[in-house]
Amino acid sequence: MKHALLGKIRDRKAVVAVVGLGYVGLPLALRFSECGFRVIGIDTDAQRVAQLAKGATYIARYGSERIKNALHGSFEPTTSFAAAARADAILICVPTPLTAQREPDLSHVRGAADALAPYLRAGQLISLESTTYPGTTEEELLPRVARRGLKVGKDIFVCFSPEREDPGNARFPTHAIPKILGGTTPDCVEVGMALYGAAIDKVVAVSSTRTAEMVKLLENVHRAVNIGLANEMKIICDRMGIDVHEVIRAAATKPFGFVPYWPGPGLGGHCIPIDPFYLTWKARAYGVHTRFIELAGEINAAMPVWVLGKVADALNARGKSVRDSRILVLGVAYKKNVDDLRESPALELMRLLADKGAKLAFSDPHVPALRWAVHDETPKDGVKLTADLLAGQDLVLIATDHDAFDYELILKNSSLIVDTRGRYLEPAANVVKA
Ligand SMILES: NC(=O)c1ccc[n+]([C@@H]2O[C@H](COP(=O)([O-])OP(=O)(O)OC[C@H]3O[C@@H](n4cnc5c(N)ncnc54)[C@H](O)[C@@H]3O)[C@@H](O)[C@H]2O)c1
Repeated sequence: MKHALLGKIRDRKAVVAVVGLGYVGLPLALRFSECGFRVIGIDTDAQRVAQLAKGATYIARYGSERIKNALHGSFEPTTSFAAAARADAILICVPTPLTAQREPDLSHVRGAADALAPYLRAGQLISLESTTYPGTTEEELLPRVARRGLKVGKDIFVCFSPEREDPGNARFPTHAIPKILGGTTPDCVEVGMALYGAAIDKVVAVSSTRTAEMVKLLENVHRAVNIGLANEMKIICDRMGIDVHEVIRAAATKPFGFVPYWPGPGLGGHCIPIDPFYLTWKARAYGVHTRFIELAGEINAAMPVWVLGKVADALNARGKSVRDSRILVLGVAYKKNVDDLRESPALELMRLLADKGAKLAFSDPHVPALRWAVHDETPKDGVKLTADLLAGQDLVLIATDHDAFDYELILKNSSLIVDTRGRYLEPAANVVKA
């Protein structure tokens, strides 16, 4: 089985199925297609599949040109899991969110695995890419494979290979980001390395699927904890009348032993606010309390309320209250230069400000409109940034510092700016850093 599959991969005759065509799955599917593989894209969202089939995109940075090219080549988007029977490699890239109780929600992983199970057969590689706690591949995938009577490492090959996509970072396209891979047996590793090695410049093998799962969590915990530290430093610097961004920029001139992390209005995105709590949950089962993770989570989660306090103070200093003030929020995406709203602290800020009675508007060059209002009192449609619009505001809140904003225009025409991203380097009478 192994040699036949390796041969198919080498000759680009292997059919690759990517399950879950989101921020992770779509670029991966396009990459394998561009590398000469036939690719089946399976997603439960019929609307997304219909869009892809027409060559349209729903993620701005993966343009329709690329999708159309893939369709001309060998890309087949579908909602049918039965198509997986034709696949030699199945890569699962479904969401791994938290429940309302902030516990791992593996429903998408289980749903995908259950839907795939009838179509698993000898001679396939199955690789989970979704970020999750150590043990998921063993506990969720292996039993389903075993129930099909398939022997792992002999009939079928099982891996975990976490995605490391950095949305909005044009320097690192999918193929240029080294991939970690853990397999259930040495043969699983060999097959996994061959498949990913055909599309990704560098694949790094680790000793087990659990190790690979932990690598991804360490990477995200590392970011969450260091951003938490940067946010705590911001609060301390603010009290002391020191500009934290200036401090970090200066510290970053040290050529060794210091890595800059930047404070902000809170954590956003699908990964950093969520993934560390996958580890927290699993660690509890081992009697370990993840103190760093909890503390960073506490600090990061408190940032929108801290920014709200800074907004209230800035208005108060001008004899105004949050209630009835016209506040323009600049940037609603969770980070700069992307259109991704998931867990965006800007939306949380809008909710908090609307609760206090502010009259809100927002502008975001990447997000012209929200699909739903974040609060009964907030608009769904963004506004165009103009000098007149800025002049009519009591306060302009820079929540996300997209490069596309005209910061000169903003500085010149706003009576009061609260800058949560350290965009303005020089002090100015109308700029409050928060
Ligand atoms: N977005 C990132 O930058 C990023 C980076 C690294 C890792 N990850 C991880 O990758 C995984 C996927 O994240 P994403 O950002 O691509 O999510 P996403 O929400 O953008 O896309 C997930 C896709 O999976 C589909 N889906 C949901 N359940 C399904 C099922 N049972 N069967 C088939 N399709 C299903 C959805 O319709 C959606 O199109 C998550 O575990 C995430 O933590 C994401």
